[in-house]
Amino acid sequence: MSELDKTIMQNALREFDANANALLDLRKNFTKELEEGLADPSKSSLKMLPSYLNVPTGDETGVYLALDFGGTNVRVLKVKIWKHGNYKILKKIEYPLKLEGKYDFTSKNATGEQLFEFIAKLIQLTLEGNTEEILLGHTFSFPSEQLDLNNAKLISWTKEFQTQGVEGKNVTELLTNALLKRNLTHVKPVAIINDTVATLLAGAYTHANTLIGSIYATGHNTCYLEPDYNGEPMILNLESGGFSKVEQNTYDKLLDKTSEKPGEQFLEKMVAGRYVGELYSLVLKQALKSEENFSFDSLDLCNIAQNTDVKKIIKEKAQYEIQDKDEENLFIKLANNILTRSALYIAATYLGIYYHIRKLPTIAIDGSMYVKNTFLQTIIDENLKKAGGNIRSFKVYDASALGAAIAAAKAEGK
Ligand code: BGC
Repeated sequence: MSELDKTIMQNALREFDANANALLDLRKNFTKELEEGLADPSKSSLKMLPSYLNVPTGDETGVYLALDFGGTNVRVLKVKIWKHGNYKILKKIEYPLKLEGKYDFTSKNATGEQLFEFIAKLIQLTLEGNTEEILLGHTFSFPSEQLDLNNAKLISWTKEFQTQGVEGKNVTELLTNALLKRNLTHVKPVAIINDTVATLLAGAYTHANTLIGSIYATGHNTCYLEPDYNGEPMILNLESGGFSKVEQNTYDKLLDKTSEKPGEQFLEKMVAGRYVGELYSLVLKQALKSEENFSFDSLDLCNIAQNTDVKKIIKEKAQYEIQDKDEENLFIKLANNILTRSALYIAATYLGIYYHIRKLPTIAIDGSMYVKNTFLQTIIDENLKKAGGNIRSFKVYDASALGAAIAAAKAEGK
């Protein structure tokens, strides 16, 4: 067993320490990029993608199919909504997108056609033989150029997805073709939205003044209600995971170099669940002089940061026996610094939006990193308070499904 190089650990602790200056810079740069992006999206690392949606009135009602596709799992749900936040999940089917040894729809060996055929099969299962016409809202959680409310072209995969034949394609066409192959012509896709947009719709359905929707999960991204988009209110998907005016440390650079898409998704690679464990793994690989790569994930990191099973996790994932309390503290502190930086940077982007809209917003947030970790929620909330006013954030449950149903209702003109 190799020794732990404490100097490497100490240096890494400093590299992941988010200081006040860095946060202020991030917040200011975010507002600047957002405003430059509004004037000309090609000049900004924020994509400013129009969703063709305003926030809901709260009066939307109906029964819809919701397809939630975006992270680790794909879900199909039948959802009933009946005004002002009231909803019921009538049926839900959930499958992982990869199943070790069986299939992997996220790898480069899979095609878009196979992926959407799999999805159509799940839709069929959800319908349980029902052949009545039903409208479908699709929450598709990747950067997409929206052609209208019901058509979106995938710009590029994120979260290390590699499925062939989807980038540049109209995702609704892929879905419609797959439905046709299964004779599911009574299923009518009517809206496609980003998961941040779904979160904002779902949040605003219950909480007035919800102006920002955000996901803190495998991936990270935020949208907001732009009050004046060519004279109209419009929810804009920022694709803020692509924000690039943020300084990368040694490990951020290392991670980016070996990622699927080097040079892209700078902020996401610093903050999102898909990557925080990888950053930790990179430091430990150096500190333990290991030839092998480690595979810490966000769950390991959250446990270590909260002093749960530290010795066990380090032994299991890095084959290292922690020697004493000092060492254990270094492992805990590193996990904390990586996660704290993640939550602080995300809070700084929310403030960046606030300094553009200049209206105290309520922020709707969904995603496993946020929902499952109260310590991350606290960090975000404390930092929002620093803006002086009452910026509130709250958890939205079933955001993707509820948002997809609301978008379908809006498409139907309800
Ligand atoms: C995607 C976004 C998405 C976010 C959260 C990112 O990787 O680019 O579109 O909203 O993940 O799922």
